[in-house]
Amino acid sequence: MQQAAETVRLFFALWPASDLQAKLAAWAKQAAGRGRAMRRENIHLTLAFLGDTKASLVPDLIALARDLAFPPLRLPLDRVGYWKHNRIIWCGAEQDPPALSGLVSELRARLDAAGIAYDRKPFVSHMTLVRNVAGLDAAPAWVPLAWELADFALVTSVRIEGRVTYQLLQRFPATAG
Ligand code: 2AM
Repeated sequence: MQQAAETVRLFFALWPASDLQAKLAAWAKQAAGRGRAMRRENIHLTLAFLGDTKASLVPDLIALARDLAFPPLRLPLDRVGYWKHNRIIWCGAEQDPPALSGLVSELRARLDAAGIAYDRKPFVSHMTLVRNVAGLDAAPAWVPLAWELADFALVTSVRIEGRVTYQLLQRFPATAG
């Protein structure tokens, strides 16, 4: 039988510095109740989810993201929410800065142009903080934060000893102007 082409699970994401991840993880732990707080190092914001993708496409993905122009920008994390359909607590911006929506559209347009498949659900920016949770009842008050975005990343998701672990394959810095 022919061997299936090697695949990797991929997505593009904004990845917070570890001090911001630590603040979010501390809040998530308190809010979790019987749910599962995200581990500090796993907290991120997905821009485009590709899922299982041929490993041989990784250089093409790096090339298409590398010269994508977007300015450094500030993303307010000024609200938390709860989604019943997937039982998550998340945080995000009341209103996304236009430059963030622009980055996502451009990234998706380039994936389309390259014929690379991704999840086409409309982008709703959010950072998952707690999974498998009943609601916001246990959640402490949210203190708004601001996130200075300086780059985005191509990330792979692997299972190590049964745990989902994210590895940053490449970071793409913001460019002025
Ligand atoms: P979530 O946090 O709302 O579940 C890795 O799985 C990341 O990709 C998560 O941030 C997840 O969002 C996001 N994602 C977006 N679309 C997905 C999909 N179809 N399947 C799994 N994860 C998806």
